[in-house]
Amino acid sequence: MPDLPETMNAVVAARPGGPEVLRLEPRPRPALGEGEVLIAVEAAGVNRPDTLQRQGLYPPPAGAPDILGLEVAGRIVALGAKASRFAIGDSVLALVPGGGYAQYCAAHESNALPVPAGCSMIEAAAIPETFFTVWSNVFERGGLKAGETLLVHGGTSGIGTTAIMLAKAFGAMVIATAGSDEKAGACLRLGADAAVNYRTADFVAATLESTESRGADVILDMVGGDYVARNYAAAAVDGRIVQIAFLNGPKATLDLRPLMVKRLVHTGSTLRPRPVAQKALIAQALYANVWPLLAAGRCRPVIDSTYPLADAASAHARMESSAHVGKIVLTL
Ligand SMILES: NC(=O)c1ccc[n+]([C@@H]2O[C@H](COP(=O)([O-])OP(=O)(O)OC[C@H]3O[C@@H](n4cnc5c(N)ncnc54)[C@H](OP(=O)(O)O)[C@@H]3O)[C@@H](O)[C@H]2O)c1
Repeated sequence: MPDLPETMNAVVAARPGGPEVLRLEPRPRPALGEGEVLIAVEAAGVNRPDTLQRQGLYPPPAGAPDILGLEVAGRIVALGAKASRFAIGDSVLALVPGGGYAQYCAAHESNALPVPAGCSMIEAAAIPETFFTVWSNVFERGGLKAGETLLVHGGTSGIGTTAIMLAKAFGAMVIATAGSDEKAGACLRLGADAAVNYRTADFVAATLESTESRGADVILDMVGGDYVARNYAAAAVDGRIVQIAFLNGPKATLDLRPLMVKRLVHTGSTLRPRPVAQKALIAQALYANVWPLLAAGRCRPVIDSTYPLADAASAHARMESSAHVGKIVLTL
């Protein structure tokens, strides 16, 4: 790679702490392993797990760089050994286990996909983390089908906005929860059939009311804590509850009777530590099922705001304010 600089700018957390600990530092350009491509990053998505990593609460998995960032979009500038899926110059987006907040990022080619037709680089960078997560949890683990009802908590989060759009695109009814009337309104504008401000209304009652007392077939939950028992109450018979985080705490006291009487399935998953090959299967499913929708403009990532890479601290502060609707993206 003779034409590429040996060093690059990258964002790391100098120590665990608030957004102010983020630093732009010179780092070596990533070396490429077998099957990897090097992406000149044009945009990098910001995710809640990045803020947890910055606080020292979510260390990168073994082998991943300490540079923050789980998703990027840009152009391929180098190919590792046996990388054959893309050519130099191709525009791609990629899910990465770390290293996204940087000028160059290595990605396994099987975890990269072409930028969907009509998407800007900023929109493309906002896709991988939430689309991989929503596809594997709502559609694969949760088995959401057309005509069923999805209850999604955190409806205006990056994950929530993606879940609303994809569930609607695949013919489900969607009920979303959010922390203000304004955010509930944003969920409705995104296509949700009903939206609940959970600070002023009970989402269990609202779900039962919206479903003629049937309940939700699939519930995507990032809140945990006391929501677990309430999700059981809001679920339909044979309902599936998929846990992807526990913003209100990992522990819950439960009455197990609804689990048995309604034959509920309560499952969950993480994305980042999963092997490249498992993420590749999700990438293939997205390419087959969701890329045509993106290309046709039937769903589009919701961009809340953009910040220059050097101002990643402001991006994290915005995310932690929870005032955002949709995705926050860093630009280079
Ligand atoms: N398991 C996985 O594979 C996976 C993958 C990616 C992300 N995640 C998780 O999914 C969640 C959403 O990620 P994201 O990047 O979309 O984040 P995000 O945009 O920051 O969304 C988080 C949302 O959760 C809501 N929330 C509810 N209770 C909260 C609490 N106690 N503290 C903070 N926020 C609370 C907030 O909305 P309101 O203000 O409306 O309540 C906030 O907008 C995160 O917890 C993340 O760690 C899991």
